[in-house]
This record gives sequence, C-alpha cells and structure tokens, in this order.
Amino acid sequence: MKFSCQGERPCARVLAKAMCGIIGYVGRHRAKDILMDGLKRLEYRGYDSAGIALLEGSELRIVRAVGQLEALIRKAAPLELAGTVGIGHTRWATHGGVVEENAHPHRSSDGKIALVHNGVIENFATIREFLLSRGYCFASETDSEVLANLIAYHYGRGGGSGEKNHFGESVRRALLHVQGTYGIAVLCEDRPGELVGARNSSPLILGIGDGEHFLASDAAGFAARTRDVVFLRDGELVWASGEEFLLTNLCQERVEAQRQELDWDLTAGERGGYPHFMVKEILEQPQALENAMRGRFSADGSTAHFGGLAMTPQELRQVERIVLCACGTAHCACLVGEYLIEGLARIPVEVEYASEFRYRNAPMDRHTLVLVVSQSGETLDTLEAMREARRKGFRVLAITNGVGSSIAREADGGIYQHAGPEIGVASTKAFTSQLCLLALFALYLGRLRDLSFDEGVSIVEVLRAVPGQVREILLQGEAIRRIAERHGRCRDMLFLGRQVLFPIALEGALKLKEVSYVHAEGYAAAEMKHGPIALVTPECPSFFLACDGATLPKTISNMHEIHARGGPIIAVLSQGSAVPREIVDDPIWIPRAHGVALPILAAIPIQLFAYHMGVLRGGDVDKPRNLAKSVTVE
Ligand code: M6R
Repeated sequence: MKFSCQGERPCARVLAKAMCGIIGYVGRHRAKDILMDGLKRLEYRGYDSAGIALLEGSELRIVRAVGQLEALIRKAAPLELAGTVGIGHTRWATHGGVVEENAHPHRSSDGKIALVHNGVIENFATIREFLLSRGYCFASETDSEVLANLIAYHYGRGGGSGEKNHFGESVRRALLHVQGTYGIAVLCEDRPGELVGARNSSPLILGIGDGEHFLASDAAGFAARTRDVVFLRDGELVWASGEEFLLTNLCQERVEAQRQELDWDLTAGERGGYPHFMVKEILEQPQALENAMRGRFSADGSTAHFGGLAMTPQELRQVERIVLCACGTAHCACLVGEYLIEGLARIPVEVEYASEFRYRNAPMDRHTLVLVVSQSGETLDTLEAMREARRKGFRVLAITNGVGSSIAREADGGIYQHAGPEIGVASTKAFTSQLCLLALFALYLGRLRDLSFDEGVSIVEVLRAVPGQVREILLQGEAIRRIAERHGRCRDMLFLGRQVLFPIALEGALKLKEVSYVHAEGYAAAEMKHGPIALVTPECPSFFLACDGATLPKTISNMHEIHARGGPIIAVLSQGSAVPREIVDDPIWIPRAHGVALPILAAIPIQLFAYHMGVLRGGDVDKPRNLAKSVTVE
C-alpha cells in the first residue's frame, strides 16, 4: 500500500491509549478456535492476562486467566464452547493490577454486554460515579468495565427496542460520552448473531470472510482466514453479522468502507522450527535487508529512489533541517541516521525522543522536514509527535514496517520497510532494516545535493553487499553463544562505541537489558573515562564496537584503560584489525566496511549476544517481563 495522507475525522478525539490485542468473530465456525488462534498471533501486544467471551445461543460465557495465553488455553480446553460469535483479549495492564477480575472481557453488571477494550477511558471516574448512582456495580478496577456498563445503560434505555441496530446504536451513544481512546469489540446477550466494534486512536481492522466477519487490533489476528479488510478510522463504528456489516461514524452517518486486499506471507509470522521468534528474526536479516533495498536503486546505480515519499526532488532540495523522531530501538536507528544524513547530504539533523518532542515546542523553521521511524507504526508517542508536527504545518515522512498502520496512514509520505512481521518483542530485523533505509534516504538526499555520481555508485555497491556480509556474520552464532556463556553471570555491562557505532552501543545496552535483565549502559567510548569507568571490575565486562575508522586509535586507548583495571573486554573488530589481541578477551570479527554499512554489520553480534544471554539466563526472550511489542501508552 502507498502511504497516504488522511485528515482527522470530525468526530475523532485523540488522546492516550493502552496496548492490548483484541479479536472478534461472527460467523458459522466455532468461535473459540478462531479466537484462540487470533490471540496467539496478537499475544505480542500484551501478555499479562487473556480472556474470551462467547455467545452460546443467548447465553454469554466468559473465560479468563492470568498469565500468558497458555493459561487461558488450558482453562478453556475442558469447556464445551460451541458458539459461533465471540470476542477475545490479551492484556498489557494499565488500570488495575494483573488479576483475573481485571482481565478482559468485561461484563456489564446486568449481564447483557461483554466488551474487550484496547485503550484508556480518561473520564472513567465520572462515568463510574454516574453509573453507580443508577445502580450499576463493578467487579474490577478497570476503565473498560465502566464502558461495558455504559453501553448496557444505553441499551437498557432503549427498553429492549426491536429496532434492527439497537445494539450498535447503544454502543454509539455510550461512546459519545467517552473521553479517551479505544479499540473495542462488543457482544450483547440479546443479539446472538451480532458483533460491534469501534475505534478511536487504537487500531481496529474489520476482516470480511465468506459468511463471517472478524475484528482485530492487528490484521495478523485473522489473516489466516481472510485478506479482505477495512481499516477503521478514528471515530468509526462497525456493526457486523455473519452476512453483512455496516460502517458509520459517531455522528450516525454511513461511511463508505474502503476495502483492501492484504498482501501477506503468513508463514512469515510463524516460529517454524526455531526455538524463539527473536533468533528467527535475527537470522532473517539478510532477506529483510534485501527487501528494504529491492527496487530502490536507480537504473544507473548511483542513487536510491522511493515510490511513496510524495515530495519532489525540488521540494527535498528546499529542506534545510531534518528532525528525526522515534522511540526505543527506532530512536537508536535515528541516531545512526543523523550521522548518515549529515555525512552524505550535509543537512543538519536533530534526533528527538518522540515523547519529548511532542511537548517541547521546539522552534523549527519552515524548511524543516520531520521524519518519524516506527516498526509498528502504532507507537503512541511517535504517532502523537507526528500529529503535533503536522498540526503545525510541517511535512512529515515516516519509515515504518506497519503496513496500513496509523503512522503509515497519517504521514504525508514515507517508506515501507517490508521486513515482514516482527513478533519478538525485542526489535532486531526491523532495526537493521531501518538503518538500511536511513542509509538509502541519506544517499538519495546526498545525490540531490553535492554527492558525486562516483560516490553514489560506490555507496550503492557497499549497500548491495550488506546482506551477504550479514550472512557471513550470522555464521558466528555459536561462537557468540560461547562468549555469552562466559559472561552469563555478570550483573552489569558497558557497551561502548564511537561515531556511527555509538548508537549501536546504545542499542546493544537496550537489547541486553530487555531480554536478559542484565543492567547495561551504552556510552560514546571516550565518555567512559568521564564517569562510567568507575563501574569497571573483573565482574563488569565492556562490549566494544571497535571497528576500523578514523577514531579507532582513540578507542584502542579506551580499551587499554579498561584492560588495565581488570575489566573483561568483548569487542566487535574489523577483519585484520590493528587492535592488539592481548587486550581483547573475546573478539568477534566482522567484514571491513564503509560507514554506511558498518552500523548494520555491527548490530548483528550485539543482537546475537543479547539473545544468547537472555536464553542462558532463563528469561522469556520473545516476551520479556513488563514489555509489549507495540507501546501504545504515553
Ligand atoms: O514500533 P516502534 O518501532 O515505534 O517501537 C518503538 C519501541 O517501543 C521499540 O523499539 C522498543 O524499544 C523495542 N522493544 C526495542 O527492542
């Protein structure tokens, strides 16, 4: 899909949201199986608890369990659940602790309505007070249960009205009173063949099958059954039976559904024979990099081009400053982008945490371009930073892997990563694919300015060689596992690199923390002597990114300083490196490379190291504690 521009809907309110996976089904098949399968594919969005609600004739049955989906599957296994309409949820806790009462689906106190919700109802306290005064009561601490009751209240006011869409209308009326964000799927005990969903700032996708409809917060939830989809927009509501659906907005106006065909390789989202998604995705990087570059080099091999930027070369030449905005790993990618764009295109770049940028009111002149980077395309901080920039009239481009995601749809233009689904919570292939695209973008901007034809050709050659070089580095997986084994008991680590490898040091520390829970800090190598060196002991290893480059002699001095204090050194080195072997305890070799390729190559060993540390230390590397893949809360 091409990036497209989309204005805000008149009825939309844009606020903070929470992250969870939701799924809904109405059709002829056993909903339980379809919901469980969908939840498996959505579990990356949260795994504190999970639940399903099914309509068994006119009886509403709910099963919920704390912990990963496995717990729910075990609990539901002995139950006879043959209903063909249902909703399901996998939770990342926001309001209320991780206990069964707070797990979704929530049921209204009159028993009529069951709801799953992804988002935050900001005025839930006021609504709760109102409902308490009307005799409703609450079993959980969640804001979502309040919404279930509010829908029940409006449903009850209709007095069991026989009008065809009374259920959908009750949901709409309830939502008119809600401040906050939601992706919801709702069932009503009296309406056994109906499902209602709505969206405001939390993704919701309708899947259209043969005599069946699906709802999910990510099309992965149902893509095994249909590729025919409608991405709901903010302020839209859908009512569906098996045979038909109706899309409206909160102002009760009918909305023309824009149906799209998903173009997905479903096996890409499977773990296959791999022990973890994380290692599968690390090993997929050569392919992901090829996908990022495919069709993006000019015929003369001297520059890159992109189909969806929606900016002419003339407009891009007017850009005098670029602000790169992202979170987490994507932010580390942007820091590399800063070096590359400034180096190749000589355009000043600033890198901002999206969460800070949004509230900072940074002065930006009219020749500033904003580029946001997000694997999921749904990270709330990034989305809101982008909205803020657009509100101020800035042109915003996006690099994202999330086809049809909120960021992809709201950006003025952008570049899809085509890295395939990334399920492991720790970002790996999406990161190197972002590095690759930022390099291509820098090359393109450079060639619009002073970068010569010959320089362009040599950079294209460097980039084309990267997937093969990554394949070579991946062969060292076992050697890196042994290094991890030697350091598996450490409590702290430093990651150190300079220039374009400094952000890779930051990413190395982030990756290690995420999957192994070892405390790690990333620093510009020379900064180490200004404080962090105090941490160095024989129990605190330093992981150097010490590849060839102008600053290597200085980095070697830093390595000596750590070696002299008994600190073990793991180092990523260029083949044939001048780094004295006696100061490196554990070398990892990568091919010599140009600065545009080096960050990608150096990222591979840090990913493998973090992965093996995580596995050795017994953590769940695909679903590390307290994390979720797509962070849609502020
Ligand atoms: O989907 P995004 O790229 O916007 O996500 C941003 C961060 O939440 C993400 O990179 C996070 O830091 C990862 N867990 C890192 O492995």
